[in-house]
Amino acid sequence: MAHPKENRILLKHADEDYFSTDIDCYLKYDGYEALKKALTMKPEDIRLQVKASGLRGRGGAGFPCGVKWHDLVDRKSGKPIYLICNADESEPGTFKDRQLIHKDPHQLIEGTIISSFANDVNLAFIYIREEMPLGAKILQKAVDEAHEKGFLGKNIQGSGYDLEIVVHRGAGAYICGEETGLIESLEGKRAYPRIKPPFFPAAKGVYQCPTVVNNVETLCNVVHIINMGGEEFAKIGRPNNTGTRIWCVSGMVQNPGYYEIEPMTMKELLYDVCGGPLPGRKLKAVVPGGGSMKILDTEETYKDRDGNEFSFDDIIVDYDGIMAAGSMSGSSGMMVMDDSIDILEALGNLLAFYAHESCGQCTPCREGSLWTKKITARMCTGGARDEDLDLLMDLAKNIGGRTVCPMGYSTTWPIESYVGKFREEMEAKVKSNSCGMTNFDERLIEK
Ligand SMILES: Cc1cc2nc3c(=O)[nH]c(=O)nc-3n(C[C@H](O)[C@H](O)[C@H](O)COP(=O)(O)O)c2cc1C
Repeated sequence: MAHPKENRILLKHADEDYFSTDIDCYLKYDGYEALKKALTMKPEDIRLQVKASGLRGRGGAGFPCGVKWHDLVDRKSGKPIYLICNADESEPGTFKDRQLIHKDPHQLIEGTIISSFANDVNLAFIYIREEMPLGAKILQKAVDEAHEKGFLGKNIQGSGYDLEIVVHRGAGAYICGEETGLIESLEGKRAYPRIKPPFFPAAKGVYQCPTVVNNVETLCNVVHIINMGGEEFAKIGRPNNTGTRIWCVSGMVQNPGYYEIEPMTMKELLYDVCGGPLPGRKLKAVVPGGGSMKILDTEETYKDRDGNEFSFDDIIVDYDGIMAAGSMSGSSGMMVMDDSIDILEALGNLLAFYAHESCGQCTPCREGSLWTKKITARMCTGGARDEDLDLLMDLAKNIGGRTVCPMGYSTTWPIESYVGKFREEMEAKVKSNSCGMTNFDERLIEK
């Protein structure tokens, strides 16, 4: 059920009893009307509408979707253009795309068809995370249904436009979510990211052809941009942060879950919507955009670019608001920690994950992430050395920014922010040798 403070556009039908994943149900609630409208427009005009909407990518970096489509895709190469929907969703704490796929798959299929039409694409892929087999099944059924009704295949709705969508199961690694790693994987290879330049997907993507890569939530938004028009869409949210976003709130709040909201303050989201901390507890820290983003301390006072101070409660939950607090909204996976959480163990668990998921192509990430895991593991199990925190910080400096893809930062940013903000707590813990390994995943320890 939607919370009264939500503005459900993408999730409008998702949790309603009347709704199902069948195409007939989707059609009953005006499904594929946006596609019919789009097919009467010129592809370039659709791209301009998306540009006017201000829609920013929901996969991580927040790049403006219309700019990518209109200005970056190489249309002069004479090569076919491909579109890939990134449904890999592997960032810790992120579970929004799964909801969209499981509960309203035709919205994604419709968004993918419109986006393909807008970009002169005749073959699109939905690359879905290996660990989401149910999602893959649901999507394949939706693709088959769309075919039967003439929304896919040759001469869609008599428009002369042809499109096929291939649902491709992922290879089961975090790095498959990085767009160039994904492309390598889609081509049947190990998901080693490609170097940019020259391998920006818009110029040299899958099969070395121009390729549009967009996240599930981004593509779902396109349906609504066509329905309401780019300028109307831009009125939702606030400038540079248009539309709604689905936030995945997990951890120590009374009502964790996914919430589709317009920008609101941290206090509104965590207290009014998510019910605040568990009884007798106090919120301590929040990772605002999936595991790799810098942690925010609830006690800290933040400063915007003009030097104005604001508290954690006042942080605006959107791209720019979280950026002003020194972190990023990333994949909108918000992990909430209260005063029961041992921050060193939390960091250790996260670093063990990124060490496990390093694809191994670049030495700083492959070796460095493993070292950070070993160091935090020994700190958590009572074998810490005096220099360990400094060593961690030093390692962090030598990983992010020195690798082919941005995954190095998944190790660097947590270290810099957790140690930077909670160093005293970590030192006290190590000195008192009281690291009891209460929540640390034993399987991840390697001394
Ligand atoms: C290590 C890493 C993992 C990523 N994982 C995902 C992912 O699981 N899903 C996703 O949509 N984007 C992911 N991204 C971002 C993609 O590379 C890409 O920017 C995005 O799919 C573009 O779509 P958007 O413009 O609609 O956001 C990841 C990036 C990095 C560096």
